[in-house]
Amino acid sequence: MWDDLAPIGRHSGTGGYRRYAWTAEDAILREWFVAEAQARGLDVIADRTGNLWAWWGAPDADGPGVVVGSHLDSVPDGGAFDGPLGVVSAFAALDELRSRDLVPSRPLGVVAFADEEGARFGIACTGSRLLTGALGAERALALRDGNAITLAEAMAQAGQAPAGVGRDDEVLRRIAVFVELHIEQGRGLVDLGHPIAVGSAIWPHGRWRVELAGEANHAGTTQLADRRDPMLALAAVIQRARLAAVRHDALATCAKVRVEPNGVNAIPYRVTAWLDARGEDSARVRAVVADVTACAAESGGGVSEESWTERTAFDPQFSARLAVLLGDAPLLPTGAGHDAGVLAAAGIPAAMLFVRNPTGISHSPAEFADPEDCRAGVVALTKVLAELTG
Ligand code: GLV
Ligand code: MN
Ligand code: MN
Repeated sequence: MWDDLAPIGRHSGTGGYRRYAWTAEDAILREWFVAEAQARGLDVIADRTGNLWAWWGAPDADGPGVVVGSHLDSVPDGGAFDGPLGVVSAFAALDELRSRDLVPSRPLGVVAFADEEGARFGIACTGSRLLTGALGAERALALRDGNAITLAEAMAQAGQAPAGVGRDDEVLRRIAVFVELHIEQGRGLVDLGHPIAVGSAIWPHGRWRVELAGEANHAGTTQLADRRDPMLALAAVIQRARLAAVRHDALATCAKVRVEPNGVNAIPYRVTAWLDARGEDSARVRAVVADVTACAAESGGGVSEESWTERTAFDPQFSARLAVLLGDAPLLPTGAGHDAGVLAAAGIPAAMLFVRNPTGISHSPAEFADPEDCRAGVVALTKVLAELTG
């Protein structure tokens, strides 16, 4: 499976993955998923939002079932594991169960959620948020990518009718429980000396748009005193975000910027930047955003919220049960968002397994997990599936 996935959307220069929702690369990933499911004789259902479900058994007649999986899309120049590890491990665990001639007591599904990273349209976990109704269809379909193409247009171009997008109770009714295996995106397991952890909670997190206006003018003829240069405001905002994160013991990142017109010798008339802020509790994240908002306002700029996710705690009893099942695996919280968190917030029993990442690096071509640890992940997921379907 890894050999087939390796070249899809891989940038030859950086070695990172550029797998954005509803692009040609995304279509190849979807074809891969369907082929893997069909090779195993599983029925594939694409729901109205474009999430892909491969079912062993009949979830409508004999469900609800146990679902495992993750996502296949990536951030710009992402690593190989964030997302695909959960889908590959899901198919591998299913193979392992079948090789034991186990007949599950209820249907078993493998899912690939659409557009988890939000790299193209700006909102993360779009597939699971639309499915659960956490994100409204009207707002989502009007989101635009960097080329001003709406999500509705992109879906239509990819052959996925956008008209039916929205909360889908028929799909949700099929899920008794969802378990997402994911590469760890930090060094928690390295420090603990364990290959596998069970997720305990997801930190509150959000994305904000910072808009800073200026006045377009000539770089060689406009005196410094006469300039309205939004790049200076941007520099101040970035510095303030960092200071605020330190002050409030949170995390803040400005990693995406649009400069218009983006010419070497033209003072920009507009800068748009995006702030990603996260923390252990929402108060400290809100405090960071308040500081950044005040800083943007000092130069006449504005900050608006694009998405917000409250702290999500996975069911502690369920997570503890899995931790015991996996030989007293540690419980770890994470600052990364996941579809499992969106489902949990919608009241669906959900849990996560993390696979050790020796460097902790993620959202980078350098992201890595040792093959032995990946195998340990499959063994753990198989145990969990056997327990939940036994
Ligand atoms: C998802 O990977 C996130 O940015 O939290
Ligand atoms: Mn990610
Ligand atoms: Mn992910």
